[in-house]
Amino acid sequence: MKNTTAMVEVQVGGARVRIPAGSSVAAALAQQPPGCTRLSVSGQWRAPLCGMGVCHECRVLVNGRECLACQTVCENGMHIATSTARTGGAA
Ligand code: FES
Repeated sequence: MKNTTAMVEVQVGGARVRIPAGSSVAAALAQQPPGCTRLSVSGQWRAPLCGMGVCHECRVLVNGRECLACQTVCENGMHIATSTARTGGAA
């Protein structure tokens, strides 16, 4: 059986991630372990938690604008910057 799922490609940090069209940015992050989004003010890694726009743990920069990863749909060519990418962290 032929797979007809349309795919889009986004960049998470420096990595290319292919994901089914209509997937959230949070889903793209989950494909790029460890899937963290940012550092808390105390320096702890954060990741999507509620998945419905309430907790704001999934804040990332998408094409230079701060977005909630769980509420943003991936588009072909998107650049998703996490704190990991911005700080050059090891996570
Ligand atoms: S995961 Fe909670 S707001 Fe996105």
